[in-house]
Amino acid sequence: MFDTLPTLPNDPILGLSVAFREDPNPEKVDLGVGVYRNAAGETPIMAAVKAAEQRRFENETTKAYLHPAGYPGANEAVEDLVYGTEHPAREQQRVATLQTPGGCGALRVAAELIQRAKPGARIWVSTPTWANHVPLLGDAGMELKEYPYYDFERHTLDFDAMLAALGKVPAGDLVLLHASCHNPCGADLSDAQWQQVTELAKARGFVPFIDMAYQGFGAGLDEDAYGPRIMAEQLTEVLVAVSFSKNFGLYRERAGALTVVSADSSRADACRSQLLSVARGLYSMPPSHGAAIVDQIWHDRGLRQSWNEELAEMRGRIQQLRQALVEALAKAIPGRDFGFIARERGMFSFLGLTEAQVARLREDFSIYMTDNSRINVAGLNLDKVDYVSRAIASVL
Ligand code: LMR
Repeated sequence: MFDTLPTLPNDPILGLSVAFREDPNPEKVDLGVGVYRNAAGETPIMAAVKAAEQRRFENETTKAYLHPAGYPGANEAVEDLVYGTEHPAREQQRVATLQTPGGCGALRVAAELIQRAKPGARIWVSTPTWANHVPLLGDAGMELKEYPYYDFERHTLDFDAMLAALGKVPAGDLVLLHASCHNPCGADLSDAQWQQVTELAKARGFVPFIDMAYQGFGAGLDEDAYGPRIMAEQLTEVLVAVSFSKNFGLYRERAGALTVVSADSSRADACRSQLLSVARGLYSMPPSHGAAIVDQIWHDRGLRQSWNEELAEMRGRIQQLRQALVEALAKAIPGRDFGFIARERGMFSFLGLTEAQVARLREDFSIYMTDNSRINVAGLNLDKVDYVSRAIASVL
C-alpha cells in the first residue's frame, strides 16, 4: 500500500530547526521557526507558568479524561482575552468556545466546523499568509483563494488592494485575517482599517475567520484584540483561532482554543455541540496541562500580574531588537532603507532577499531563515545584530 507514497521534503519552517541544530558553526543564528528567545538565547518557561506548574504538580489529583470542551476556566480566560470581560456577544450568549490542541488544532477544528455548515466553503487568505494555513484548512476540504495584502516592494500593507479584492468576495465565503503581528510580514491593520474591513464584511456578507496567535506581542493585550472585538460586536458570525504558544510560552504543551460567534444563543448552542462532535471525531479531548496552566494564571491575581509583566518585557525586547537591527543595517548597507522593520510588529518581517541570497546566508554565514526571507526577529540577539547585518550586506 505505501509503495504509492513519495517521500516529502521537510516542512519549510520546522525543517529549518533540524538543519540549524546540525550546523556546527558557533556563530550560527536561528531566525527560522517562530519561537521567542531571551538575551541568553533561550526560550524560557515564563515565571508565572513555572509557579502554576509547581502548584499543579502538588495539587493535581487525577488523570481521568478531560471533557472534550476542555477546562471551563481556560475557556473563560480565552473569552476574557479575546473579547474582554464585558462584550455584547458574550452577554447575548452568542459565543461558543472549545479548548484545542494549540492554535493549529483550532484552525483545523474551525475548518471541519465550516465544512459541516457549508461543504466546500471558500476561504480567502492574505498574500502572503502563514505557510501552514494551506494544509490546515485545505486538507479539511476548504478551497483557498488569495487576496493581496503586503506590498513587497514598498514593505507596507497594501490596504487599497486588499479592500478592492475583499469588495468582490461573495456572501458566505470566509476571509482569514491575522489579529495582530501578521505572520509572515509583520504589517498589521490599524484600528480604522479594522473598522473598514468590518463594514465591508457587513455589506458583502463574508465571514471573518481570525487567526490570533500573537496576542500581546504587538501593541498590548487589549490593543491586539481590537479587530476581533469590534467584529464580534458588529457582525453576526466570526471565528477566532487562539494560540497560547507564544504569549504563555506553552509551545509544546499545545494549548489553544477556537471561539465562535454566531447570530444568537440557540445557534451558539448548535455550534458548541458541533464543536464537541468535531473534537470527538478528531482527537476526543485536548491535552490538559497547558490549558490548566492558563486557567490557573488567569484566575490568580499575582500570577496574572507576573505573566502580564513578563509578556510586556518580551514585547519590549522584540521592539528593541527591531530598532537595533534597523540601525545596524543602516550602517552596513547605507543605500537601502530597512526602517520598515521597526514599524512592523510581532515576531516576523521580510528582509526582501531572493532565495539565492537566503541560501548564501545559510551556507556561508550559518544564518537561518525561511526561503522567502522571513526572519523571526524574536530569535535575534543584540550581540548578533552586527554579524547578521554585515552578512546581509555581503549577500546583497
Ligand atoms: C512559525 O510561523 O514559525 C510558527 O508559527 C511555528 C510554526 O508552527 O510554523
